Amino acid sequence: MSESQSPTTPSIRGERILVTAALPYANGPIHIGHLVEYIQTDIWVRFQKLLGRRCIFVCADDTHGTAIMLRARKEGRSEAELIAEMQAHHERDFAGFDIQFDNYGSTNCSENLELCQQFWSALREAGLVVEREVSQLFDTQAGTFLADRFVKGTCPKCHAPNQYGDNCDKCGATYSPVDLLDPKSTLTDSVPVLRNSVHLFVELEKLHGFLEDWALSDGHLQGEVANYLKGHFLGEPLRDWDISRPAPYFGFEIPDSPGNYWYVWFDAPIGYIASTWQWCKRHDEPLSDWWQNPETEVHHFIGKDITYFHTLFWPGMLKTAGFNLPTQVHIHGFLNVAGEKMSKSKGTFVTAETYLKYLDPAYLRYYFASKLGPRLDDLDLNLDEFVNKINADLVGKVVNLASRCARFVQQTGLANEYPDDGGLFESASQAGEQIAIAYQQCDYAKAMRLIMELADRANPFVENAQPWVLAKDETRGGEVQAICTVGLNLFRQLAIYLAPVLPKLAGQCGSLFGEPITSWDQSRQPVLGTKINTFEHMLARVKKEDVASMIEDSKDDLVNAPASNVAKWDDSDEALLAEPLAETCTIDDFVKVDLRVARIVAAEQVPDARKLLKLTLSLGGDHTRTVFAGIKAAYEPEKLIGRLVVCVANLAPRQMKFGLSEGMVTAAGSGGTEVYLLSPDSGAQPGQRVH
Ligand code: 2FM
Ligand code: ZN
Repeated sequence: MSESQSPTTPSIRGERILVTAALPYANGPIHIGHLVEYIQTDIWVRFQKLLGRRCIFVCADDTHGTAIMLRARKEGRSEAELIAEMQAHHERDFAGFDIQFDNYGSTNCSENLELCQQFWSALREAGLVVEREVSQLFDTQAGTFLADRFVKGTCPKCHAPNQYGDNCDKCGATYSPVDLLDPKSTLTDSVPVLRNSVHLFVELEKLHGFLEDWALSDGHLQGEVANYLKGHFLGEPLRDWDISRPAPYFGFEIPDSPGNYWYVWFDAPIGYIASTWQWCKRHDEPLSDWWQNPETEVHHFIGKDITYFHTLFWPGMLKTAGFNLPTQVHIHGFLNVAGEKMSKSKGTFVTAETYLKYLDPAYLRYYFASKLGPRLDDLDLNLDEFVNKINADLVGKVVNLASRCARFVQQTGLANEYPDDGGLFESASQAGEQIAIAYQQCDYAKAMRLIMELADRANPFVENAQPWVLAKDETRGGEVQAICTVGLNLFRQLAIYLAPVLPKLAGQCGSLFGEPITSWDQSRQPVLGTKINTFEHMLARVKKEDVASMIEDSKDDLVNAPASNVAKWDDSDEALLAEPLAETCTIDDFVKVDLRVARIVAAEQVPDARKLLKLTLSLGGDHTRTVFAGIKAAYEPEKLIGRLVVCVANLAPRQMKFGLSEGMVTAAGSGGTEVYLLSPDSGAQPGQRVH
């Protein structure tokens, strides 16, 4: 596409284009709801690259916060181990869907820490940080302050029940968890109490004028988003932003405020820059070229739930620290399946991993593309439509065009001159501009419609000419070659236009013609006078049974887990052989041992003891037990506090050198660092008996 034909949107000016998708939390798997965004972004990036623009796509795992800390605690391992495992899974899933990042990092990296310090100094120097005592909800059972997402209650504005502590998904209000009516901890279902601690705030209101100008000008935001901000936030003073969390917290400790950590939403978007920095280091480019240079455009792709962070906090931080402001924040809606929220019980909460067991990623990429417009409307995945669309469009109209023509020119190759096709190639070539504009504007639904219209015109040409009939007559070889030269070139045009969505198909098309697809402009010139490689199968029809199996598999988390786990985990019997089962005991023998759920309320080192920690266990109320446990090599005492364990509550007290031990905590493992405390599932209460 020549410069004069380039799509006329705000985003074609920059020398460099930096693209991000929201950083997925490290505490859960990638699912098809997430994939809407990653596929949307990947298509946009591939489109930019196909146009020959200098564009990089960076992302990272969002690793900090209470959720990770609690999960690591529950699983008895370090946060570092947990986030490394999750990142590996995320990267595997993204690769499975052909989502190609130029750098995939983690917010828990040295680059991010350094950048956070830089942003922090800038905020301090700008006089935007204030300290205030805050009353925060504290879960006494879990021993932690409760992050917004760990509290649920009734929205203080519209009184919708069951809303999270940060915002209401019914009326869009944002608030603090302490404003919720009837709050409950989602960790323990208990009613949290208020506790005071010092927090650090960014006074966003001081940036009001700047934010208003930025949000409402130059097409940085979709019209409906700008209007929403104007109506909801910018029409009144902006609230101070609580940027710190007191220990215990997994994150970066604030250098000039020991014991306090940057709130995960402070360091997460800075992770965009950290990930870019890692890419820059690998490619020997200065970070400032990408983040502190007016010739670089920054494009963020996000879901509508995180609008506030990316359109107010983040531009405020960037402005203060002297980094590029976003050129555009592209915001999309949520995914529904069959008109409803994804549901685990209905099997519509499909993880990336499960999807890939049954279906080709190209199907979902195309289906989402055909549904994604430039607005924030939610998308609906209708499974019947999914099957029909893929089979009718991709298999029926696109791949068929190639498969019906390729074999007839295998011997002769393509004609040397482009035959008369009634203007099909030329008009499809001209349609390229409209298609490109649609991609550029994230109107992929329109782009797919335009491409399928071209396919609808190309197919009758081949159908009417019937090369498979003519091929039986040896004297008509020239006609057959001409028809198939047209058919294959029209297919190739479609494959080029679809390349951002279907990179594999573009690769297969490149192999067929012996010339890879690397540029949008290739759609303007037919390939002539060359051999055609053997046609390889390109895309199978979607089978309804496979879709049904995927849904069934997504349902069966609880029902089928044991069966599949046996096969998948293949546990060794080493431990069992090392310590064979004890003699059979009767139920009467067993009930003599009174096992109880207990909470570790204090844990300390025992001076002079090599193996022991001194634990204070609470069985609820004032009922406590002091226990000396041989777990020193495996656990740091401070990490144990608040944790639920299973203890032998009626063990005869035993006088030890260090004091009286009044029970025992249960653990597996061979000793030393190989000790694994037993924990009940969440919901269990101290004092409950283990039967
Ligand atoms: O909403 C989320 O899943 C966040 N983890 C997104 C973070 S995006 C960015 F700011 F880092
Ligand atoms: Zn509400």
